[in-house]
Amino acid sequence: MAAPAGSPDRARPNIGEQVTIGHPDVTDGVACWRLAEATGTLDVNSRYAYLLWCRDFAATSVVARRDGEVVGFVTGFRRPEEPSTLVVWQVAVDAAARGRGVAAAMLDALFDRVADVDHLEATVTPDNTGSIALFSRFAARRGAQLSRSELFGAELLGSGHEPEILFRIGPVHR
Ligand SMILES: CC(C)(COP(=O)(O)OP(=O)(O)OC[C@H]1O[C@@H](n2cnc3c(N)ncnc32)[C@H](O)[C@@H]1OP(=O)(O)O)[C@@H](O)C(=O)NCCC(=O)NCCS
Repeated sequence: MAAPAGSPDRARPNIGEQVTIGHPDVTDGVACWRLAEATGTLDVNSRYAYLLWCRDFAATSVVARRDGEVVGFVTGFRRPEEPSTLVVWQVAVDAAARGRGVAAAMLDALFDRVADVDHLEATVTPDNTGSIALFSRFAARRGAQLSRSELFGAELLGSGHEPEILFRIGPVHR
């Protein structure tokens, strides 16, 4: 289907020809864990959690590879109580590969690969400019509504954690 008039090209050629996007293998869990740790901003889960994710949620997750190395990942899941919603859990791109559209290309590729979803949800902390831009730009590219509401307040998260604001985007057209 042709892109609606006025919507930007989704091919995002600036990620470079050598970057490929695909679903992760179990062993990619190690690289995802390392990337998450290296961001210094994400809540890093256990190495086990990333391995498990790459085994059981590979169909709703993607990795970006350059020269065979994982340089980015998006982990996600289909919301059990609302299967038409894809929830993005974490996104990370290696610092050396940022600013070239890798995260945006992963988000587009993932959404388009998961069958029968029409909404995307993610939570962001109010101080995460990159994350806010990533999801706002996704909504704009797809001509979709973006609504914001607090999902988990600071008191629930504890340890001085910023609140997590739910970004709900949709309906998203393919
Ligand atoms: C957030 C992150 C994933 C973005 O990755 P990236 O590959 O550099 O992002 P992209 O190049 O695809 O940028 C997507 C859009 O967001 C914008 N953007 C990305 N980072 C930005 C920043 N720090 N400040 C402002 N805008 C930013 C880009 O300009 C682009 O907008 P455009 O479509 O108008 O050009 C990356 O910075 C990262 O890994 N950060 C640490 C982990 C994290 O915070 N993850 C998100 C929470 S789950």
